[in-house]
Amino acid sequence: RRSRRAAISASLSSEEPLLIRAARGEDGLPRPPAWMMRQAGRYMASYQALSKRHPSFRERSETTDLIVEITLQPWHAFAPDGVILFSDILTPLPAIGVPFDISESKGPVIQSPVRTEEQVRELVPIDLDKLQFVGESLKILRSEIDGEAALLGFVGAPWTIATYVVEGGMTNTYTNIKRMCHTAPNVLRGLLSHLAEAISDYIIYQVNSGAQCIQIFDSWGGQLPPHVWEQWSKPYIRQIVAKIKTECPHIPLVLYINGNGGLLERMKDIGVDVIGLDWTVDMADGRRRVGDGISVQGNVDPAYLFSPLPVLTHEIHRVVKAAGPKGHILNLGHGVLQKTPEEAVAHFFDVTRSLRYDTLFQ
Ligand code: CP3
Repeated sequence: RRSRRAAISASLSSEEPLLIRAARGEDGLPRPPAWMMRQAGRYMASYQALSKRHPSFRERSETTDLIVEITLQPWHAFAPDGVILFSDILTPLPAIGVPFDISESKGPVIQSPVRTEEQVRELVPIDLDKLQFVGESLKILRSEIDGEAALLGFVGAPWTIATYVVEGGMTNTYTNIKRMCHTAPNVLRGLLSHLAEAISDYIIYQVNSGAQCIQIFDSWGGQLPPHVWEQWSKPYIRQIVAKIKTECPHIPLVLYINGNGGLLERMKDIGVDVIGLDWTVDMADGRRRVGDGISVQGNVDPAYLFSPLPVLTHEIHRVVKAAGPKGHILNLGHGVLQKTPEEAVAHFFDVTRSLRYDTLFQ
C-alpha cells in the first residue's frame, strides 16, 4: 500500500489533489478521482472493533484522537482520492444550544425538538470553542494525508438539519416540519436562518483548519416537492454558498441531495462547483441537465458493492464513460451500506486507479 500511495503522490506532486482539480472542471486529468460517502463506519471491521472500545457515537465523533483514527481507517485501507472527516451533520448542534444523541437502534435523537418561537429565540450563535475537536482533527489529518488526497469537510444543509431538530429524530414522513411550513412559517424561517448563519461560520472554521473542499448534504431536500424545496431549502443553501464564495473563493463546494432527479435544473444557479447525483438519475442525462461549467459527483448504486466484482468493474466503467472526460468525481449515489464487503470497496478504488481517460475516450 505504501508504494501505491507513493506512486499516486509522485504523479500529483506540486499539483493540487486530483479531486480539487476535477471539482473545478480542469481539462487533462488522467482519470476521475474517487471517494465514497460514508466511507468510514460500521461496514469496516476496524470501525466495529473501535466502537466496542468506545460505544458512544458522540465520544467517537467528538474526541480528536478517535476522529483522526476513524477518518484514516478507509484512507489506510483503500487510498481514496478524498478523505472525509469523520463527524456528523448534527455535530455542531450542541454548539448552538441543541443537544442530541445517536442511539444504536433509533439513530439521531433530539430530546427537545424545536417547534416554537421561544425555542428558536433561545438558540445561540455557534460557539466554535465547543467544536475544537473538529479543527484539531482537520489540522492533524491535513498533515497526515500530506497532499496525497483531498481533505473534505462537510455540513448539513439547513433544511436537512432542521428535519432532525423539528422532528426530534429520523422520520419517514416529515409531517411535523412540512406542516410547520404552513402553520408556523415565521418560526421555521427563524430556525433555518439561524442554522444558515451557524453553518456558514462552521464551514469557514473547517476551511481555516485545513479542509480543502466542502460537501453540503441536503440529504432530505429530495423529500420536498420542487417548488417547496425552492422556498424552504434553496434560499438558505444559497445564503451559505454566497458567504463561502466571498470568504473562501478558492474552496470548491459540492451539493448533494438524495432524490434530486426533480431538482437538477433548480440546483444550477446556487453557485456550487459540483452537483451530486444519486443512482436514480442516469449519469449521462444528469451530466447533460447540469450543463457545462458545473462538475458532477456520483453515482454508482451502493448495492453494486454486493455484486460479483466483475459486475462492479463494468458499472464503474459505464458511469465514468457516461460522465465524460472531465468534471467528474466518482462516488456512490448515496452512502456505503452496512454489511458492504470491504473487498468490494477496495476493488472500487483499485479499478478507478487503473482507469485512463485517454484510453476510455479515444
Ligand atoms: O462519510 C463519512 O465517512 C463521514 C461520516 C458521516 C457520518 N454521518 C457518520 C455517522 C457523514 C458524512 C455523516 C453525515 C450524515 N449524518 C448525513 C448526511 C449523509 C447522508 O447519509 O445523507 C445524515 C442524514 C446524518 C444523520 C445521521 N447520523 C443518521 C440518519 C444516522 C443514523 C443512521 C445509521 O446509519 O445508523 C447517523 C449516525 C451516524 N453518523 C453513523 C455514522 C458512521 C452510524 C452510527 C454509528 O456508527 O454508531
